[in-house]
Amino acid sequence: MFPASVYENRRKALASQFENGLLLFPGNVESPMNFADNCHPFRQDSTFLYYFGLDQPDLVAVIDCESGTATIFGDELTIDHIVWMGDLPTLVERAEGAGIADTRPAAGLAGVVGKVAGAGGKVRYLPPYRAETSLLLSELTGLAPSALKGSADEEFIWAVVNQRSIKSEEEITELDEAVAISVEMHDAGIRMARPGMREAEIAAEVTRIALARGGRLSFPVIATIHGEILHNHDYGHTLSEGDLFLLDTGAETARGYAGDLSSTFPVSESFTDRQKTIYELQVLAQQTAVEALGPGVPFRDVHFAASAVIFDGLKDLGIMKGDTAEALEAGAHAMVLPCGTGHMMGLDVHDMENLGEVYVGYGGKPKSTQFGLKSLRLARELETGFVVTVEPGIYFVPQLMDLWKAQKHCEEFINFDELDKWRDFGGVRNEEDYLVTSDGARRLGPAKPMSVAEIEERRGG
Ligand code: GLY
Repeated sequence: MFPASVYENRRKALASQFENGLLLFPGNVESPMNFADNCHPFRQDSTFLYYFGLDQPDLVAVIDCESGTATIFGDELTIDHIVWMGDLPTLVERAEGAGIADTRPAAGLAGVVGKVAGAGGKVRYLPPYRAETSLLLSELTGLAPSALKGSADEEFIWAVVNQRSIKSEEEITELDEAVAISVEMHDAGIRMARPGMREAEIAAEVTRIALARGGRLSFPVIATIHGEILHNHDYGHTLSEGDLFLLDTGAETARGYAGDLSSTFPVSESFTDRQKTIYELQVLAQQTAVEALGPGVPFRDVHFAASAVIFDGLKDLGIMKGDTAEALEAGAHAMVLPCGTGHMMGLDVHDMENLGEVYVGYGGKPKSTQFGLKSLRLARELETGFVVTVEPGIYFVPQLMDLWKAQKHCEEFINFDELDKWRDFGGVRNEEDYLVTSDGARRLGPAKPMSVAEIEERRGG
């Protein structure tokens, strides 16, 4: 945990935005894999972690906005817990670490909430994303679980999004550490791949490093020779000479802060000319996006700057054609970039996505419904203190090629016969993480291997 004053100050800043009522923060509970005592690793809710720092299940926190006091509802460990898990700090001791003197049994929560609601006070909560949280809120409010997302408090959402979007010094230190571990994971993955190895072996090694450095993964590893599949969690393929390998993985620090990097490298010792051409085009697009970062710049513009570089490069190869601005307006680049160029990052790898992409990534403005652009998670103007990923990719998705060709979709901008020659190519993505600063942006953590020379040196080529 951070020092108690960090949590006290965060709560004070939040509570000062509300005159009265309660702010409700349900922490997460254990999540069984196949039976109650065999659980997924526990992950606390990130907003709970941000304001209270306590990384244990079965806690609910409440802030009374009028008095500014915070209370933790939860039950002390019994001898059964201690026999099972060892001698652990009491809830009272843990809460003290977050600057909270008021802890009460879990059973007391309903009475406190009911009293405020009964007197006409507002009980505010954020949109739930876990079934157990929905059930708890449903019991407390009397609303059906299906009604809860729609009744989440918008002022509360905005207050949390605005506060968590601007990373403080202690958070930036954590994020630098998360990215440094992530770079170590990528360096190891790039060096170890050999023909005959299974994808799972690389996934296992990067997972080992994340755990060995005291944290864990910030999301399930993507380690694949099918980089054109954006979120592939299958590690069943065997690597062969000539394959391109895409590794997308990041560490989470013990305090819960995420890193998120992607690398692409040849399974052979060096890139083929064809691979190098697309690889260098992706690196150019990524660097163009990085150079565009800065306060006041809409991330949508960053996305389109990278997309234009990719479109122009593919035009030079005869794959795309026509006016670049018109093609981008029509969404033709989504043939090879059917997703966004980045997202916010912090306590969540996609920071605060549970609170709503429209708030976090769009400042309340509507999202596009166009294929490709609808998957851009971040479009709003950047501010100093935001942390974002930068990850434009180039993906050759055979099913998408066939569909658009059959539909003649964007045929004025795509030479489908030329495109078809790349149908077995796969995908390329390099991804880094950046802090937006008053005069541009700073890369978080050390540099990961990126240039063709840096990659080939690690591959032994
Ligand atoms: N890098 C994985 C993700 O953004 O979901």
